[in-house]
Order: sequence, then structure tokens, then C-alpha cells
Amino acid sequence: MPIRIGSAADIVAAKRKVVAIGDLEIAVFHVRDRFVAWRNECPHMGGPVCQGGLYRRVIEVLDDERNDLRQEQHPEDINIVCPWHGVEFDLLTGQVPSNPKLALASVKVEILDGDIWLHV
Ligand code: FES
Repeated sequence: MPIRIGSAADIVAAKRKVVAIGDLEIAVFHVRDRFVAWRNECPHMGGPVCQGGLYRRVIEVLDDERNDLRQEQHPEDINIVCPWHGVEFDLLTGQVPSNPKLALASVKVEILDGDIWLHV
């Protein structure tokens, strides 16, 4: 059942919105010109992952022999860090790059006439 949670412009400005729908907490994010929605329940141990910090993904720069030269921030990729134990998820895909068994649970999000609708 689609539920309207607010205007897309408000979420673009705030970057995220966490809502409660019945027993579910869901967060909508604006990332890389798209809207994504994830359940606010970490697949590790159930923490409020969607309320974690947002950071640019860190890239290790290596030389030809694969020695670590330095760290840089990816120009576009954003990770969200679960506040309970620090697992990092790619905000756009919901995946943990180092552990394909862990991923955020997605919720279908749709924009109609400038409003955000969640399909729950
Ligand atoms: S509950 Fe999220 S990292 Fe452990």
C-alpha cells in the first residue's frame, strides 16, 4: 500500500527522512540524484542503521606493487555507518562491500507530483 511521507524537495534539502509506519521504521535518502529507502534495522544486530553518520567512501590508493600510498574520498559514493557497531553500507545499493551477506532491506520509493511515496 503506497503511503505519502512528504515532499521530495524537503528530503533533498535534509538529505534523509526517517518515518514510522506501523511497526516499521523506514528512512528515505537523496543520494546521487536518486531517492532510496531502507528499513531502519541493521542486518547485523538490528541497530538503527539509518540514523548513522553519512561519509564519502574511502578509497585506498596503491602503487604498482599494491603498497598502500594514501587514502582518498570517493567523489560521489556515500556510506552510512551503523551507530551500534560501525558496519558501513553503501547508501545507494545497501550493500556492505566487504561482506555480501549483509545488506539493508529496501523499500520501494516513488516520486509522484513532487511527493515521496513508500510502498510498504
Ligand atoms: S547492529 Fe548495526 S553494526 Fe551491529
